[in-house]
Amino acid sequence: MSGRILVVGGAGYIGSHTVKHLGRSGFTPTTLDNLCTGFRDAVVAGDFLHADLLDREALQRVFSRNSYDAVVHFAAHAYVGESVTDPRKYYNNNVVGTLNLLHAMLDAGVKNLVFSSTCATYGEPTVIPISEEAAQHPINPYGQTKLVMEHAMRDYASAYGLNTVSLRYFNAAGADPEGVLRERHDPETHLIPLVLEEAARVLRGGDPHATKLKLFGTDYPTRDGSCIRDYIHVQDLASAHVAALKALLAGTCAGFEAFNLSTEKGVSVLELIEGARKITGADFRYTEFPRRAGDPPELVGSAAKARTVLGWTPEWSSLETILETAWRSFPR
Ligand SMILES: NC(=O)c1ccc[n+]([C@@H]2O[C@H](COP(=O)([O-])OP(=O)(O)OC[C@H]3O[C@@H](n4cnc5c(N)ncnc54)[C@H](O)[C@@H]3O)[C@@H](O)[C@H]2O)c1
Repeated sequence: MSGRILVVGGAGYIGSHTVKHLGRSGFTPTTLDNLCTGFRDAVVAGDFLHADLLDREALQRVFSRNSYDAVVHFAAHAYVGESVTDPRKYYNNNVVGTLNLLHAMLDAGVKNLVFSSTCATYGEPTVIPISEEAAQHPINPYGQTKLVMEHAMRDYASAYGLNTVSLRYFNAAGADPEGVLRERHDPETHLIPLVLEEAARVLRGGDPHATKLKLFGTDYPTRDGSCIRDYIHVQDLASAHVAALKALLAGTCAGFEAFNLSTEKGVSVLELIEGARKITGADFRYTEFPRRAGDPPELVGSAAKARTVLGWTPEWSSLETILETAWRSFPR
């Protein structure tokens, strides 16, 4: 299948991997990004447009000068902690910016959208694995902004015929197996790059006892007392976007549909640290801290719906492959 796809936020971590995959899957991607957290050199396929979702006139120009079969929308601010201290920044970019995009799409008659949602919309789940039918009660403004937009997309589906596939990612991880792209968040808050940075520091000759790695919570009701999360390889996220686009363009997904993108397997923080010691060969340490507020003991998603409806199966998401690909391109 082919098609012209506008990838908003395509210069970021997940977006850049997806743009590369789209290019290899017969699609013609164009990336639109303001580079607030993205990188121009991460866009390795298709055209690049430097523009901001908050600039409505620029968006209108983009849609009036080009025709697109679908939009994939990654652009957002995504730091949970910052969303608590500066919610205005989050509602403005993630809600106002996304509404601008939806309105420009509707004005231009573009009806197909793949949206980056998150397991953070579920808040603290009561049943594991979490299904798409679980109650959505986000516990931070970041999760709220994503849920608000899911609600708008559902309403726009019934009123204006907008077709949205909302992909609720669990913990995105890993990197391009060819070593071209990687995770480059600054500041970095994700566990795997933080663990690898500590491994790299020790391998560079740093004192293992002066560790910067923090382990929050050792008394959770889990198999080893540390938090359990569901890590999904960025390559598997990229292939899910291609599957979602194919379903939208073939008409097998219409209206609003949400899918978890997860592995259904939980990995504890301590298991991850042990895995990273093996892959890197570094005997690094960590310091224990009390639990952080708002960190549920376990977040594991059911991916049954994506398997059945999109025909999607994660192929890169074993802990070993995630750590190995992330380490391959990790600066050290
Ligand atoms: N990384 C994860 O584990 C994870 C998990 C769940 C959901 N998500 C969601 O996936 C999406 C991508 O996440 P990521 O980790 O790749 O983040 P990222 O910060 O690497 O990528 C976001 C991209 O959007 C661009 N952008 C932001 N605001 C913009 C605006 N107003 N106009 C134009 N471009 C803008 C940034 O420059 C960047 O290139 C986000 O929507 C995030 O909420 C990420």
